[in-house]
Amino acid sequence: MKLFDVYPLMNVTPVKASGCTVTAIDGREYLDLYGGHAVISVGHSHPHYINSLEVQLRKIGFYSNAVINPLQEELAARMGNISGYPDYNLFLCNSGAEANENALKMASFHTGRKKIVAFQGSFHGRTSAAVAATDDEKINAPINKQHDVTILPLNDFEAAALTINDSIAAVIIEGIQGVAGVVEPTIDFLVHLSYLCNKHGVVLILDEVQSGCGRTGKYFAHQHSGIQPDIITAAKGIGNGFPVGAVLIAPHIKAKHGMLGTTFGGNYLACVSALAVIDIIEKESLMDNARIVGNFLKRKLSTLPGVTNVCGTGLMLGVHLDQPAAAFRKKLLNEHGIFTGSAADNNVVRLLPPLCLNADQAATCIIAFTIVTEPQHA
Ligand SMILES: Cc1ncc(COP(=O)(O)O)c(C=O)c1O
Repeated sequence: MKLFDVYPLMNVTPVKASGCTVTAIDGREYLDLYGGHAVISVGHSHPHYINSLEVQLRKIGFYSNAVINPLQEELAARMGNISGYPDYNLFLCNSGAEANENALKMASFHTGRKKIVAFQGSFHGRTSAAVAATDDEKINAPINKQHDVTILPLNDFEAAALTINDSIAAVIIEGIQGVAGVVEPTIDFLVHLSYLCNKHGVVLILDEVQSGCGRTGKYFAHQHSGIQPDIITAAKGIGNGFPVGAVLIAPHIKAKHGMLGTTFGGNYLACVSALAVIDIIEKESLMDNARIVGNFLKRKLSTLPGVTNVCGTGLMLGVHLDQPAAAFRKKLLNEHGIFTGSAADNNVVRLLPPLCLNADQAATCIIAFTIVTEPQHA
């Protein structure tokens, strides 16, 4: 059997990794400013993370959600504290798409409605309703198009006010749009959405799958705006590579037995991986580090001649170039050994490094960008 060929691949075969460094099969070391797509939050192969998983695996690795699993309760309490949402309830699943699918489903159960509002440039994953709320025709199959979704321009106050009414089940928005190229909703726009949703009994869902887990210097990106969504979704960084999805649900949205479910979600290994990530974020002050090193990177990269803008917050940055990003990223990879991410905007390089990126590694990034942005190099 061969692989179903859906991914364009970088010509690199990682065989081991540590912190922000990935080592390829030929022994070459790479600086990981991509974090496996914002997944590696606390660094590759952190000893506490490895140890937690090893110890748990020797006890019990899996049982279904038909039994009591105290690790799930511990994770709910710890995630409630670190996120500042101690009174919310947690549903655990396996991926970002699944978290959003369940969030949309909860919104529909709760309101008895089925219309969704989403935003241009969004990416919410590839399951049925999540992909329907994703603004990309190419990844929506005819079966996904049965959902009733209105896509609005981001940060358009008037369009939101005209569309959000008592017939809408949910508004779903990313804390910061990742795939689009690190595009931020303004603080005022989030406040406006929160007001409209509140007024019309609409469930406001904040998709923090990419922008969450401390990446922006706060646990969730929307917390820079002070709003409190009804549902928050997370995945990627919370398991540092172990598949974990999370839906944080406000207390006024009530659970009923059987309304959601999963075989693998919240299994023992998933829980200990997420608990280990929280331990490390707290012990190593990684949210502070993301803010400080992210600010430094943003400030320095903004001054380079070929860089037209740097958007984003903390260690979720979109570097806008005066040239196409694809060739630029190839040079960073081949000539400087640096992994970066692409974006829907062809001129944007996305930086999503582990939250433990240090000042020296940030300086290495700045030097490489300086060399590659030089006119004779471009
Ligand atoms: C904002 C956002 N939501 C949802 C998803 C989907 O997550 P997953 O690939 O884990 O299903 C992604 C993935 O990139 C994402 O960036």
